Amino acid sequence: MSQLTATRKVAIVGAGAVGSTIAYACQIHAVASTIALYDIDFAKVNAQVLDLRHGSMFAPPVTIVGSDRVAVCADADVVVITAGARQRPGQSRMALAGRNVALCHELVPRLLEVAPEAILLPVTNPVDVITTAVLEASGLPAHRVIGSGTVLDSSRLRALISERAGVGVPSVRAYIAGEHGDSAVPLWSGAYIGSVPVSDWVAGGVRVFTDQVRGDIARAVTAAAYEVIAGKGATNYAIGLAMAHLLEVILRDQRLILPVSSLVEDFHGITGTCMSLPRLVGRAGAGAVEPVVPAPEEIEQLRCSAAQITKACRDLRL
Ligand code: 2OP
Repeated sequence: MSQLTATRKVAIVGAGAVGSTIAYACQIHAVASTIALYDIDFAKVNAQVLDLRHGSMFAPPVTIVGSDRVAVCADADVVVITAGARQRPGQSRMALAGRNVALCHELVPRLLEVAPEAILLPVTNPVDVITTAVLEASGLPAHRVIGSGTVLDSSRLRALISERAGVGVPSVRAYIAGEHGDSAVPLWSGAYIGSVPVSDWVAGGVRVFTDQVRGDIARAVTAAAYEVIAGKGATNYAIGLAMAHLLEVILRDQRLILPVSSLVEDFHGITGTCMSLPRLVGRAGAGAVEPVVPAPEEIEQLRCSAAQITKACRDLRL
């Protein structure tokens, strides 16, 4: 285990499919020296901890603890929040807002009592509304509340571009911004394969990413979670890997540009909304938005996405 990993603790609230898979991905990637799981269901959290520990012979030496008491999160560097109602097949993320906001208002002060220095990382949906609720309930500066946002959607986008172009995912750079949900916005104007803008990518003398193809890809990204939930009841593997990556970026201060959900101030007319834009992320949390200038139609879509999040927050008096 590296020196940097040696003193890090990640606490995960919620030992369901998402929380336990984030723990598993953190274990096999040695993201922290201690992974703590907290869930009000003792039998479940205990079983998840045992199952994770039983793999210790095949994984880096990480301490895994769990409890139905919040004290297990004590002194965590980052607290990941996955607890809450989850989508049923066909249900939108926004439909969960009321119940999950109420849960956060109750939970966040208790978490900060035991882990006052932590960065809070909400994953619970609708994540942009929940990020707003966590920011409000915690009273923390905005950079210390980082929603998972569209990190996962951007991975889905890159995978689809990669498949069409026949180029490996690491050579694709493309972001989804805005809401992690139905109004998500692909930033095609800043999407590249190698050093070529995606819209200029040619195969056999023919442009691959026509308007039609880009539209199909954007719709596939938005539909992705619905498709997985219809088939198996929840999404867990991709969000597990995405959050392990985000945690590593934070704890090792990698200072990468990631589309996390955070308070947006004065971005092309958008202000006071928590939503995703590509930002610098490191040990201090969510940093500045990259100085990106989206295409005019993308700015319009981002404003619409921000308006949807703001309306959902206002309806809940956030
Ligand atoms: C996802 O996009 C459901 O928000 C979750 O996988």
